[in-house]
Amino acid sequence: MGKVAVAFAAAAVVAACSVAAVMVRRRVKSRRKWRSVVEILKELEEGCDTPVGRLRQVVDAMAVEMHAGLASEGGSKLKMLLTFVHELPKGTEKGTYYALHLGGTYFRILRVHLGGERSYLDVQDVERHPIPSHLMNSTSEVLFNFLAFSLEKFIEKEGNGSNSQGVKRELAFTFSFPVKHSSISSGVLIKWTKGFEISEMVGKDIAECLQVALNRRGLDMHVAVLVNDTVGALSLGYYHDPDTVVAVVFGTGSNACYLERTDAIIKSQGLLTTSGSMVVNMEWGNFWSSHLPRTSYDIDLDAESSNSNDMGFEKMISGMYLGDIVRRVIVRMSQESDIFGPSSSLLSEPYVLRTNLVSAMHEDDTPELQEVARILKDLGVSEVPLKVRKLVVKVCDVVTRRAGRLAAAGIAGILKKIGRDGSGGITSGRSRSEIQMQKRTVVAVEGGLYMNYSMFREYMDEALVEILGEEVSQYVVVKAMEDGSSIGSALLVASLQS
Ligand code: BGC
Repeated sequence: MGKVAVAFAAAAVVAACSVAAVMVRRRVKSRRKWRSVVEILKELEEGCDTPVGRLRQVVDAMAVEMHAGLASEGGSKLKMLLTFVHELPKGTEKGTYYALHLGGTYFRILRVHLGGERSYLDVQDVERHPIPSHLMNSTSEVLFNFLAFSLEKFIEKEGNGSNSQGVKRELAFTFSFPVKHSSISSGVLIKWTKGFEISEMVGKDIAECLQVALNRRGLDMHVAVLVNDTVGALSLGYYHDPDTVVAVVFGTGSNACYLERTDAIIKSQGLLTTSGSMVVNMEWGNFWSSHLPRTSYDIDLDAESSNSNDMGFEKMISGMYLGDIVRRVIVRMSQESDIFGPSSSLLSEPYVLRTNLVSAMHEDDTPELQEVARILKDLGVSEVPLKVRKLVVKVCDVVTRRAGRLAAAGIAGILKKIGRDGSGGITSGRSRSEIQMQKRTVVAVEGGLYMNYSMFREYMDEALVEILGEEVSQYVVVKAMEDGSSIGSALLVASLQS
């Protein structure tokens, strides 16, 4: 070999070595980045861990806070609000009634026709529309005019059929926000939640605002009851099955109500009801306990929300927030590595990753996780390799598993308070026989998160059995109540008339 050829060969070897060195360096770097992402996931898993021991501490804290909230006004973060609902629909109601439900994301209008027997419940013309986002921070006049206008349109479509005798229409207003009631048909807004911000409405009577707007449009309708969505769900649950004593909503927001003995509502001593009990709206979204597993993502989400230091439990378990927790984890991962490619500005927009997308990614059963790839692409993150897609699914799983398990602990806390968890509960004045006999207990559940996200449901059900044990959980039946919040409140109006 000539000298020139040797020089060429040597140069080629050097070049090959340096290419190899660059590749090795890149591989090492990328492995290091992958490790840092895996570290973030591990940290998240540890931060969201909910072993049954911790869940039991949450159960106890929930029951204790319920007691404190019933003992005195402001005694707990749980408001334990009186609803003035002491009789629930029995199934013998008759007539035609209307319901308007203002939720967190949708509003619904429907009509029910009742024939005097349980089986004669005819739910007619259910209308479900997204709440136009500009209404969430408009004025009370704009909001209520819009609701009255929507009711007017609904009634116009009826023709003469449903109201041929020209009688006044009786309406139930399901209002999914905290209200301090003075009767079953009146109450003032305590505060907004779920991103609504019409500050001049706080302190105003909600039923009156609607009635005034209806009158202004010349609608012959009477706002007969004002109820929380949980109370609507409880009413429908009870109508179908009188063992229903608890109702929970897992939707945009989350909350629970239950039937309480009036003598246990110490803050309202002397409160008399014909049944000796009253439905209490817990407003459990505001529950807090040091036993709740809180991560830096929860802390940041809360700090940047429109209601920081408020609704801590809701922010861990409800539909408005789960997507944003997942988004925050992905953003952190993309900041620490380039596994998501060049960072997408879309993903840094709060609430852009909605919980229905989290559910679609989590439940993607295609072999290549195409749904995950499609959703990430829509969020400006394309060409994500399969192992990264799997990582995203894992993040969805960790966040939703924590939510489902904490939701179960919340329910078990209520069961404990009313002595239906098999332990006798922390009771006041309950008789021994009542404590010892495990009664069948139905928990009515409503809300889009529960209805549409099967993994959330599965984690919740599984944790409830873990907490209560196989034997006691046989007596606890969780029943889905589709549209229960609206239908149930119309039934409540009916029960007042009969
Ligand atoms: C509200 C509750 C409501 C729950 C579910 C919460 O944000 O404060 O009143 O029941 O959402 O809709």
